[in-house]
Amino acid sequence: MILMTYFCFVFFWFRGCLGLSLMEIIVGESLGDIDIQKMVMNFGYKLTEHEVVSETGNILVLHKIRAKRKNLRNGSYTPSVLIQHGLLGASDNWFLRGPDKDLPYLLSDAGYDVWLGNMRGNVYSRRHTTLNPDSSSSYWNFALHEIAYYDLPATIDYILDKSGQESLFFMGHSIGSTIALILCSLRPEYNKKILLHLALAPIAYVAHKPNLYHKFVFASFPFVEQSVQSKNIHEVFPRRKYFSRFIEYFCQDGTYFQKLCLMFIFNFVGEDYEQFNATLIPDFAKYYPAGTSLNMATNLYQMYTTGLFSAMDFGNKTLNMLHYQSDTPPSYNLSNVQHPITLYYSDGDYLVTKDDIDILADKLPNVKDKFKIPYQTFNHLDFMWAINSKKLLYDQLLLLLNKYVES
Ligand SMILES: *[C@@H]1O[C@H](CO)[C@@H](O)[C@H](O)[C@H]1NC(C)=O
Ligand SMILES: *[C@@H]1O[C@H](CO)[C@@H](O)[C@H](O)[C@H]1NC(C)=O
Ligand SMILES: *[C@@H]1O[C@H](CO)[C@@H](O)[C@H](O)[C@H]1NC(C)=O
Ligand SMILES: *[C@@H]1O[C@H](CO)[C@@H](O)[C@H](O)[C@H]1NC(C)=O
Repeated sequence: MILMTYFCFVFFWFRGCLGLSLMEIIVGESLGDIDIQKMVMNFGYKLTEHEVVSETGNILVLHKIRAKRKNLRNGSYTPSVLIQHGLLGASDNWFLRGPDKDLPYLLSDAGYDVWLGNMRGNVYSRRHTTLNPDSSSSYWNFALHEIAYYDLPATIDYILDKSGQESLFFMGHSIGSTIALILCSLRPEYNKKILLHLALAPIAYVAHKPNLYHKFVFASFPFVEQSVQSKNIHEVFPRRKYFSRFIEYFCQDGTYFQKLCLMFIFNFVGEDYEQFNATLIPDFAKYYPAGTSLNMATNLYQMYTTGLFSAMDFGNKTLNMLHYQSDTPPSYNLSNVQHPITLYYSDGDYLVTKDDIDILADKLPNVKDKFKIPYQTFNHLDFMWAINSKKLLYDQLLLLLNKYVES
């Protein structure tokens, strides 16, 4: 009975979420009214917004956080850190909990120049110089490859231009890290612009066996994809008030369904009741998901089901040729990725496991360290929202950065 309710819930969440987006495109109220400037200011920091236009005409928003008080680091050298969010995320996912908990504030307090990127198609970077995301399907014709090849280099160059420095620290969570790997495999000249890459549960080669729930999601994906495509929808999981209210209603403290919500989340990212603050579900749901393209979902689905680290396969030679000048999608050659990398992973993460990281580490020529989070059940989401993320991870990251700066 519980199992049946559960599967119904999962099924309707998946279908409903995409179905909602159709309704929402017509009638939905966007959640763009979250005043993050004010939120950050109330925490005692200053948030500025910067626009970067990539070669393809995509307008991307970068956020920069600064402590209002003077930086603690002496001297003129304040290295920049670029933080890239993961799948369906946005920059604000990283600073919604506040100064004692979230990474950007901690880095800023330590004197770093902190920047947060937004991938094209999400709530902040959903703009283009000529294409209209609301009416143009071409706008949504992107996946990791395009973000990595066009948007990330524009972002890095913008920050380096502002800071007057030659390189920066790069920190990516999940696919946020993946795009830096793709960029440097395709455009090796960017290696020298990354002083150090902190890779938090990067997705590249998927070697582990999927769990039962992942199997279920993967098995239903082609069906869901088709049904979405047939409705001419190209944007998936946008940030919407209706969705956020729905989650709040079902998953907040004191509701019967909260356990189900947690089960649902944990089956996907790894079970960690200890480090997940369920009281914050309504807040999390305001900020997550933040939207992406259907192609991105297909891209990830292919990576998980084939185990290959290559660009999205259009399943059509003509289209592949058009995109990649080759019948088959290019696979990424990691021997070109020469910048120093430290890899972070956890035994409690269902999406990126030790096996996956070991393969990646084998292929990367310049791995400085592999760091296992010292907490058995730490999951994929905990890299961002664990109750003790500071103690378990962020303090480590800061120590490492400080060591690099001082040497
Ligand atoms: C910065 O300089 C001040 C004054 O010289 C000194 O008191 C402080 O400890 C220095 N801070 C750091 C982080 O080096
Ligand atoms: C969870 O979040 C709530 C709301 O912000 C907070 O009051 C509570 O202290 C948090 N719990 C833990 C264990 O951090
Ligand atoms: C491939 O895509 C093109 C352009 O959308 C289409 O015209 C063609 O029929 C497709 N080919 C196959 C084999 O599906
Ligand atoms: C990857 O690149 C390296 C160096 O650029 C080259 O030696 C190697 O043959 C390439 N591997 C593949 C599979 O293309």
